[in-house]
Amino acid sequence: MPALSKILQQCRKWNSRHLLGIKDLSKPQIEQILQLSLDLKGIPADELRKAAPLKGRRIFNFFVENSTRTKISFGIAARQLGAEVLDFSPGTSSLNKGESLKDTSKTIESMGVDFAVIRHPSSGAPNFLSGQIGGAVLNAGDGANEHPTQALLDLLTIREATGRINKLKIAMIGDITHSRVARSNIWLHQKLGNEVTICGPSTLIPPGLPVTVSHDLDSILGQQDVVMMLRLQKERQKAGLLPSIGEYATLFGMTRERLDLLREETILMHPGPMNRGVEISAEAADSDRAVILDQVTNGVVVRMALLLLLKEALR
Ligand code: NCD
Repeated sequence: MPALSKILQQCRKWNSRHLLGIKDLSKPQIEQILQLSLDLKGIPADELRKAAPLKGRRIFNFFVENSTRTKISFGIAARQLGAEVLDFSPGTSSLNKGESLKDTSKTIESMGVDFAVIRHPSSGAPNFLSGQIGGAVLNAGDGANEHPTQALLDLLTIREATGRINKLKIAMIGDITHSRVARSNIWLHQKLGNEVTICGPSTLIPPGLPVTVSHDLDSILGQQDVVMMLRLQKERQKAGLLPSIGEYATLFGMTRERLDLLREETILMHPGPMNRGVEISAEAADSDRAVILDQVTNGVVVRMALLLLLKEALR
């Protein structure tokens, strides 16, 4: 395992200013993020805190949509590296008073922020912000568009559980239409050359994605290395897409019985938050197939890796 100084030195090769989506990353960049995350896992937390490579840097956690995992994870990652974290909560902010994203951007800019982590209900909001501020922008989820850090932490979890990132068969089950997690994972596995199948009711499967489509969960489960269950994104759905939640759970939920259809080595993932009893049963979520808590743990190290890399491109 390389020493911290060597690891930090390797970050210098990075040359992108923002992390807006997986779509913008090259395969070597994805591999570099993964390798840096793995290397950082070998460094004790104390050593990282002492070295404080982001000392004097300011991170603005700008979350206009609900979040538990992602916001906390970015905060932990940033503090672990010695940065100062500013949390923005829309409930108490001027956004409620009708302030535009442009005005908020100007405010962020005048506060001297090095990194802006943004979650926003509108697709493209991070791209807009990146044109307004001098610091680095990290997309923490924009509408149904992308959630790049989630796909990258999923990749680290897959790598640890299966030992590889290539020659994989990956199924994503559920509300693909409204899922930024699905989109980021699709772009990522397309770049890595993996075989992706999406499965769900036809009302929740958009046309035109470069993947195999199925509407019959039981027929695809036996062929996968990775099965990702996704939440019904009710906050983004129009009415009338599903006859009933009960029927959805019966047809597309991961149940105890369906676990038996998986191959022995297949892993079960979920980005959270889970709706137990809808897309995943409690038995499945708590079974030894599930790597759901590993995904949460890996979120911190992947976000540390990204902050360290983007620091190199700060002006
Ligand atoms: C996801 C999101 O916000 O897109 N959650 C997360 O970041 N862990 C998935 C979801 O909300 O279903």
